[in-house]
Amino acid sequence: MTRFAIREARPGDAVGIARAHVTGWRDAYDGILPSSVIERVDIGQRADYRRRILADRDILSVVSFDVTHGDVVGLCDAGKSRRDPPGTGEIYALYLVHHAKRFGLGTEMFDYARTWLAARGMPALVIWVLDNNPHAKRFYEAMGGRAAQAMPSRIAGYPIVERAYRWD
Ligand SMILES: CC(C)(COP(=O)(O)OP(=O)(O)OC[C@H]1O[C@@H](n2cnc3c(N)ncnc32)[C@H](O)[C@@H]1OP(=O)(O)O)[C@@H](O)C(=O)NCCC(=O)NCCS
Repeated sequence: MTRFAIREARPGDAVGIARAHVTGWRDAYDGILPSSVIERVDIGQRADYRRRILADRDILSVVSFDVTHGDVVGLCDAGKSRRDPPGTGEIYALYLVHHAKRFGLGTEMFDYARTWLAARGMPALVIWVLDNNPHAKRFYEAMGGRAAQAMPSRIAGYPIVERAYRWD
């Protein structure tokens, strides 16, 4: 029986997405980032951010949800690449809560975003991932992505290395 599905986000999803984002972020980065950094994100602040994203027509926001209860269990945001010339789209965020992983939802949200970007003149795609996040890197490799340049950056002052994955 299918327990999960995906759809485009709606204005009323802000808090549900914020909750899934915070939970997914904590699951994903436990052991990868220090707890002081992981615990900085909170649902209220994420919900305010989410309301702005949902009002922005240049950004796609897709959710995964539990078909029984309607709860949001994952999210994917996409739009123009922040660092590349026109023609390249970017997936800014792709997160699932732990119990919704490995049901193919990541693949479905990724494919939806790719199709949406290509239809808006962005056939190339980039995703920036923490270089020490091996699970996500394996997923992007399974999606046919090519590991490209690395870039030092910071999250809340903590030094990280981001790695680009590209689809040309
Ligand atoms: C990365 C993520 C979005 C993948 O979504 P998912 O729905 O779990 O992945 P899928 O079920 O679509 O997996 C497709 C394929 O990717 C690969 N894959 C996915 N997760 C993997 C993992 N943890 N380890 C190794 N390979 C993995 C497998 O080849 C998988 O195929 P299979 O299940 O038939 O073996 C999800 O695991 C997630 O939210 N991770 C935490 C958040 C995160 O790190 N996001 C990336 C931020 S840039």
